[in-house]
Amino acid sequence: MYNKQPIGFIDSGVGGLTVVKEALKQLPNENILYVGDTARCPYGPRPAEQVIDYTWEMTRYLLARDIKMLVIACNTATAVALEEIKAALSIPVVGVILPGTRAALKTTKNNKIGIIGTVGTINSGSYEAALKQKAPQTTLASLACPKFVPIVESNEYYSSVAKKIVAETLQPLKHKQLDTLILGCTHYPLLRPIIQNVMGHSVTLIDSGAETVGEVSMLLDYFSIANAPQTAEQKICEFYTTGSANMFEKIADSWLNLTELSVTHIDLGGNIHAS
Ligand code: DGL
Repeated sequence: MYNKQPIGFIDSGVGGLTVVKEALKQLPNENILYVGDTARCPYGPRPAEQVIDYTWEMTRYLLARDIKMLVIACNTATAVALEEIKAALSIPVVGVILPGTRAALKTTKNNKIGIIGTVGTINSGSYEAALKQKAPQTTLASLACPKFVPIVESNEYYSSVAKKIVAETLQPLKHKQLDTLILGCTHYPLLRPIIQNVMGHSVTLIDSGAETVGEVSMLLDYFSIANAPQTAEQKICEFYTTGSANMFEKIADSWLNLTELSVTHIDLGGNIHAS
């Protein structure tokens, strides 16, 4: 049986587009609805309770659009809200932390893994817990990089300021003999060339979001809910942002290379709390 209902993707802003980019490549038949809560981005410094509330608001918006699967394309939200949302919904819900962990364990040869993410993700200890549970012999060096998300959201991810900030921020990881570094925030793959340059080519970067699409693909098959082959005209790929549709479109346009982009501004319940 084929199922043409869309897959829903959520993130605090444009970060989840790095996951969508991979989904467009690996799952070209699937219809996609995306919500980026740009007005309240970044989630990283926010208290867990608030991130959970915001994540629910995006989730409810997409449930009302009849999605068949939810991808929490945000590490910060995955860290605090995945288990609760998964337990409450009857559709499959996928987060980005476990796929990133598995890929890092597959890659590392010296068992020295680094993880960079938002303050929320790093403080949650989620990657640490997942790695230790699967492979206690690994040593993990974690670092919060709170300056990275604002660079990406302001479309400055190729600038010389970005290069300087990334180089300064990553210094503490440079001499840890890491052979693998998890990009534990879905915004970070947009900074990938700069991060790679700073860390050196002996370090393999793991894109947690891109790894997640492999899991989505497997679940579509497992639950027999993949879509039938469809033409480009039939395909639905819609983006919704609580912030400026214009800015979102600029970033999505250069990152996704789609011929046509549908970006719409929406308001989610709690925007009055935005700070
Ligand atoms: N893209 C996000 C993540 O993967 C959230 C960044 C933020 O809003 O701070 O963690």
